[in-house]
Amino acid sequence: MIKKQLEEVKEKALEALSHADILDSLEQVRVRFLGKKGEVTAILSQMGKLSPEERPVIGQKANEVRGLIEKKIAERKEELSKAAAEQKLKSEKLDITLPGKRSRIGKKHPVSVVLDEIKDAFVSMGYSIADGPEVEYDYYNFEALNIPKSHPARDTQDTFYFSPEMLLRTQTSSVQIRTMEKRKPPIKILAPGRVYRIDEIDATHSPVFHQIEGLVVDKGITMAHLKGALDSMAKKLFGENVTTRIRPDYFPFTEPSAEISVSCFMCGGEGCPFCKNEGWVEIGGAGMVNPKVLEGCGIDSSEYTGFAFGMGLERLVMRRYRITDIRMLFENDVRFLNNF
Ligand code: PHE
Repeated sequence: MIKKQLEEVKEKALEALSHADILDSLEQVRVRFLGKKGEVTAILSQMGKLSPEERPVIGQKANEVRGLIEKKIAERKEELSKAAAEQKLKSEKLDITLPGKRSRIGKKHPVSVVLDEIKDAFVSMGYSIADGPEVEYDYYNFEALNIPKSHPARDTQDTFYFSPEMLLRTQTSSVQIRTMEKRKPPIKILAPGRVYRIDEIDATHSPVFHQIEGLVVDKGITMAHLKGALDSMAKKLFGENVTTRIRPDYFPFTEPSAEISVSCFMCGGEGCPFCKNEGWVEIGGAGMVNPKVLEGCGIDSSEYTGFAFGMGLERLVMRRYRITDIRMLFENDVRFLNNF
């Protein structure tokens, strides 16, 4: 009786195995016949009912059947694994003769290239880099810089106001005040950053651009120090033969004030189309920090003096790379940016 059952189960198992064509269904077959609740296991549990003479005979038969099923499953498993691996290899076939896909590596924006050079030049002279907010109080952007509400200097620096007291900064000079409020001299900082002004966009104007502010406050600082710092930067940026020129100008927060120019690095100062035959190229403003501004920040102007300068970064970048339209610096067209 049991013997017959075993024969039947064996046939059923072999039949089932011949249909198992993926590894998953093979596992199902194993569970169905050899698992804890499997068909072979069920038959074996009836062994107890057998007579002592029958038991070894049937026991042997049962082991044979179980062994056979196990062996067949193992064989089939190996076949199926091999087939699966082959299938995988085929589907993942790699044609190493095809041209590769190059991943494009980005580049520093020309504005960052020049800014980094300028930072390097000043850091090597002992300056540290300072930072300030672009959304600024009227106080730091104008008032503390000796530009009260009625001052005509405000006309040339109109900007976006969030409220009567808060605006998009028009100049990095605000960082001068923030620094002097926090720290006592000696002070030696370079503050680069974005500034905003209401301006029609054209080849030389953008409502957003960058300035680089410099501030040095200590005992005995004179205009000669200012000239020396500017000369040193210009030489590092444009070459050893370049010099700077300062001429009288006006800024409410410096006294005396100066306009900074560098000798034309294209013609060496002789005059060429690049410098409009002037031999000089204007790069910014500067001057001795107005004692009123120092005092406003709690610095004793009888003990300390200082100089400050501010330069337009885009202008320097344009001169350096002979870019004729400022808009190119903000459009982020990779065909343009790839040139640097
Ligand atoms: N902030 C001035 C401007 O934007 C430039 C400047 C900076 C002048 C520092 C003197 C000293 O016009």
